[in-house]
Amino acid sequence: MIKVVVGGATGRLGSMICELVRQQSDMQLVAGVVSDSGGHAGKEISQGCRLFPSAELEKALERADVYVDATSPSAAAKNLVKVPPLGINCVVATTGLPEDLLKSFEAGVQENNISAVVSPNFSVGVNVFWKMCGVLAAVLENYDIEIIETHHDKKKDAPSGTAAKAAQIVSEVTGIESIVYGRQGVVGARGREIGVHAVRAGDVVGEHTIIFAGNRERVELTHRAHSRETFAEGCLTAIRWVSARRDGKIHSMAEVLGL
Ligand SMILES: NC(=O)c1ccc[n+]([C@@H]2O[C@H](COP(=O)([O-])OP(=O)(O)OC[C@H]3O[C@@H](n4cnc5c(N)ncnc54)[C@H](OP(=O)(O)O)[C@@H]3O)[C@@H](O)[C@H]2O)c1
Repeated sequence: MIKVVVGGATGRLGSMICELVRQQSDMQLVAGVVSDSGGHAGKEISQGCRLFPSAELEKALERADVYVDATSPSAAAKNLVKVPPLGINCVVATTGLPEDLLKSFEAGVQENNISAVVSPNFSVGVNVFWKMCGVLAAVLENYDIEIIETHHDKKKDAPSGTAAKAAQIVSEVTGIESIVYGRQGVVGARGREIGVHAVRAGDVVGEHTIIFAGNRERVELTHRAHSRETFAEGCLTAIRWVSARRDGKIHSMAEVLGL
């Protein structure tokens, strides 16, 4: 039985992960972690499964095999330094994590010989989308590349981690170093750059389009998430995959899916 603790258990994504974990015969939801001030700490979300405030993260993790973080960049910055020394494997869904946090988390994973899966998007379709971004960028030489993402109006970070990763992939393949986030004013003639644009509107779960535009044609590749369940299901696949590992490494969802 894989014992799971979910950080952000009352959130849009975290609550769905909790629900799916509860439905699995090989997993047990042993605790949830929430903010210290949100008013949910102390509540029981299912029999024997309590919500702990983040100040008591270590206590919440006493029975855990895998910790899932689905919080916010600032909460994850505090939580993810505490988990590796406890020897507990991690699945990190939180997006917008600063580079220095990822570096210190990676060092913690290595030092404590745990394993982690970190991905700004756990859906199978988006992981295929990223792979196709690289394939298209390699063959459509000298095409203009623009990325447009749309999310619900409550999303805290912009651009989405998914769009940022797509930009990073095409930058590595094409050698284009300039990534521009939105444009305004007189932008004039430009050198080669990758444009990234964030739309925040309504209840959109998540949409990403990458455009490769030449002079007489363009290719557009779009992924649309219909439900948050696609991310939560991916998290469950990652929990199973990482639970028995001990290799001191951070893995991508592409590795989990064998892409
Ligand atoms: N990788 C993916 O596939 C994927 C997919 C979707 C979303 N995400 C990311 O997942 C994260 C959560 O998104 P969401 O839409 O679910 O956010 P949300 O609805 O705002 O939920 C945030 C959750 O974090 C909790 N929280 C706040 N501070 C905390 C702390 N210090 N320690 C532990 N928990 C804390 C909140 O608890 P309270 O109730 O106490 O406030 C709440 O449960 C975001 O970074 C989002 O971009 C990733």
